[in-house]
Amino acid sequence: MCGIVGYIGTKPNAIKTIIDGLEALEYRGYDSAGIAYVEKNQITIKKKEGRIATLKKTLDFDLPIFMGIGHTRWATHGEPNEKNSHPHQCGKFTIVHNGIIENYAELKKELEEKGYIFKSDTDTEVACAMLDAIYQEELDILKTLSIAEQKLKGSYALGILCSDDLNTLYAMRNKSPLIVAEKGENKFIASDVPAILSYTNEYYLLDDFDIAILKENSLSFYHPKKGYFEKEKLIFEGNVESSRKEGYEHYMLKEIHEQPKVIMDTIQYYYDGTKESLDKNLPNLDKYNNIHIVACGSAYHTGLVTKTLIEEIVELPVTCEIASEYRYKKVFYDESTLVIVISQSGETADTLASLRKAKKDHIDTLAIVNVIGSSIAREADNVLYIKAGCEIAVATTKAYSAQLALLSLLTLKLAIIHNKIEVQELSTINGQLVELPNMIEKLILNDQYRKIATNIYQREDIFYLGRKLDYAISMEGALKLKEISYINSVSYPAGELKHGTISLVEKNTPVIGIITDSTMKEKTISNLKETSARGASIIAISTEVISDVAELILIPTVHPLWQALLTIIPLQLIAYEIAKLRGCDIDKPRNLAKSVTVE
Ligand code: G6P
Repeated sequence: MCGIVGYIGTKPNAIKTIIDGLEALEYRGYDSAGIAYVEKNQITIKKKEGRIATLKKTLDFDLPIFMGIGHTRWATHGEPNEKNSHPHQCGKFTIVHNGIIENYAELKKELEEKGYIFKSDTDTEVACAMLDAIYQEELDILKTLSIAEQKLKGSYALGILCSDDLNTLYAMRNKSPLIVAEKGENKFIASDVPAILSYTNEYYLLDDFDIAILKENSLSFYHPKKGYFEKEKLIFEGNVESSRKEGYEHYMLKEIHEQPKVIMDTIQYYYDGTKESLDKNLPNLDKYNNIHIVACGSAYHTGLVTKTLIEEIVELPVTCEIASEYRYKKVFYDESTLVIVISQSGETADTLASLRKAKKDHIDTLAIVNVIGSSIAREADNVLYIKAGCEIAVATTKAYSAQLALLSLLTLKLAIIHNKIEVQELSTINGQLVELPNMIEKLILNDQYRKIATNIYQREDIFYLGRKLDYAISMEGALKLKEISYINSVSYPAGELKHGTISLVEKNTPVIGIITDSTMKEKTISNLKETSARGASIIAISTEVISDVAELILIPTVHPLWQALLTIIPLQLIAYEIAKLRGCDIDKPRNLAKSVTVE
């Protein structure tokens, strides 16, 4: 969601530093961009609806500027236009904000009574006016920010300038991520690490209610209850190269190609082929007979695959829920329940709320996360990191696969605990693991996807069908396609289509059928035939040769634990090729955000 970058220091090109930082955060998703910088003791604000490229046209990069704050906005309160873009200014304060101020309507009323007039529809302008109103009484910036932290309800990461102290950049957060970094006399704030990686890979992660005070020659941290305090420096494991396209046309394509590596990095970090490594590296799962998996979007889809695997292989019941539902619904736990939350970013608001709900009910929690030190990682009882590295494209690919890989290991561990895996089967699983990177590589290099895309990219409806594991995987295939190509693509359990949706099938409607589960093969094929009898054009992704289809993508048969890691590759690449033919903005699809920090 919204991206924040702030800079203060001795480099005269603050505008470029901030804009470069915002561009490194483009993957978060946004619909307008803006910057405020200090020029001859005055604050200048420039903002534009649309892409950063449009904002750049209004900027003079040669101006000697040493301080400023920039923002990319993903609209929540008020439509995406110039008026609602950040930075917002009110009285002596200029701010950029990520998050939602939940009590903004109430605060707005109070401030209007005091004479404040609002130009935008945003909650951010209200927060800005509130800072100004407090400051009018306190005449002390730090005190103002501390009082504001008590008054603001909801979530915020704020970059703050005050015209009474244009040698200092302030930042504070509650529930929305914000980092601070320094490189000599250059200091930065940012929503995420890629924004600062060309300067340093060391950073500080602000905790809720921390306030950072950045000056050219000092960096300090203050907490309203603790006063000034020292913060621990963190080191980001990746480097600036890992967040660049490296010759690929899109980040999404680069990340698809990284999958053999991230899958193996993730698996080998926890598993060396022995039961002992699973015992040592994964949490003790002996006492859990009832598993709840909670997540959003693609992470939820990895949960659906895992539910099928655990139920089929381990024979334990698994509930897999969308976090925005789970957090509010009646949930049935017992002492043998483990709640597993899955999140690439570790900041998704609904997933975090679901985690907190389970913790409040004293239920054990385990988080599967990519971003180290993120809120979900820090709050769960146990955290397991996937080794996907920095994922830039909004539509996830490599994090999805790395999550699947780790969840397959958890399934394997449960299967061993419950005596559901024979020695011979384990040796097959291990043998195939060695072959996995090659098999994935070959599927990535298959040249059928472009041809398939050329035949169907102009269609407005595409259906995905599968049963059991194949249905769970098809959910992600359909989501990938709709995210990046804007085609209405829907996934159905193959037997369900005839109960209504088949009425939408007409001549040449593309139906993508997934057939990897041999026990379901005949059933899925007859469901596909029901659609071809009504004119559908079938694209089969199958482990066996299927006749009477328009296209057949053959994938190797492996143990169910590894199958989804293969099947997902054609689905990702068909979506990619279709989006490319439709001329879509593949890495930054409209309306989407990579990390959704509001509910
Ligand atoms: C957003 C992203 C999706 C992602 C979902 C969950 O909607 O656009 O790609 O799957 O959030 O994100 P998380 O970071 O919790 O995995």
